[in-house]
Amino acid sequence: MAARGLSHARDGRTVMQIGDWTLQTGCHALLLGPSGSGKTSFINIVTGLLTPTQGELWVAGEAMSRLPPAGRDALRRRTIGLVFQTLRLIPALSVADNLALAQRLALGTADHAEIARLIDRVGLAHRANARPRQLSQGEGQRAAIARALCTRPRLLVADEPTSALDNSNATRMIDLMFEAANATGATLLIATHDGRIAHRFANRLDLVAPMANAA
Ligand SMILES: Nc1ncnc2c1ncn2[C@@H]1O[C@H](COP(=O)(O)OP(=O)(O)O)[C@@H](O)[C@H]1O
Ligand SMILES: [Mg+2]
Repeated sequence: MAARGLSHARDGRTVMQIGDWTLQTGCHALLLGPSGSGKTSFINIVTGLLTPTQGELWVAGEAMSRLPPAGRDALRRRTIGLVFQTLRLIPALSVADNLALAQRLALGTADHAEIARLIDRVGLAHRANARPRQLSQGEGQRAAIARALCTRPRLLVADEPTSALDNSNATRMIDLMFEAANATGATLLIATHDGRIAHRFANRLDLVAPMANAA
């Protein structure tokens, strides 16, 4: 993943300033900065949900920022796994069916053997048929990570995955994401204002809240 001259302005005010930044394939990086420093704006640009007002963003060798909306949706589905802060598992579906639906949407078909393998790898084999509300917080996180991975993403992205968690759950969440990314060779990008996890990452990009009227 690479940013070139990347920044974003809203209403004439620069709200995110990255410039040039490269994250090598298979590496892990932490995007760190206080609330309002542009972390979510950057994540939204990386995932193709937002068009940068300046510069380019490349994902898996393709210029996400130059693609039309349908092309971005396709690139996101093909290459990116997203873990939401609030997990966003579908309550009416079992863990296994949450993964199957994600695979059908991204790949057109569900691979039930691979789903079982992934669920086992995140330690949820005994909970595959449980509904999300029957899971503990830690189990729900594992399910959300498994769902993000079941489309075989080259880039695993999470926005504030630990901010609502106590210390031991925050550590477990980061361990799991490292483990999962390493097992599949995925590139890992985590945005957070959570200083507790910063020491885990050699590769860090620190954002500061831009000055008012910097644009
Ligand atoms: N939809 C929006 N419209 C206008 N301003 C926004 C919008 N979303 C975010 N902002 C502003 O952009 C800045 C960066 O926000 P954001 O990227 O969400 O930062 P972070 O995720 O680091 O808290 C903030 O000042 C925020 O108020
Ligand atoms: Mg944010």
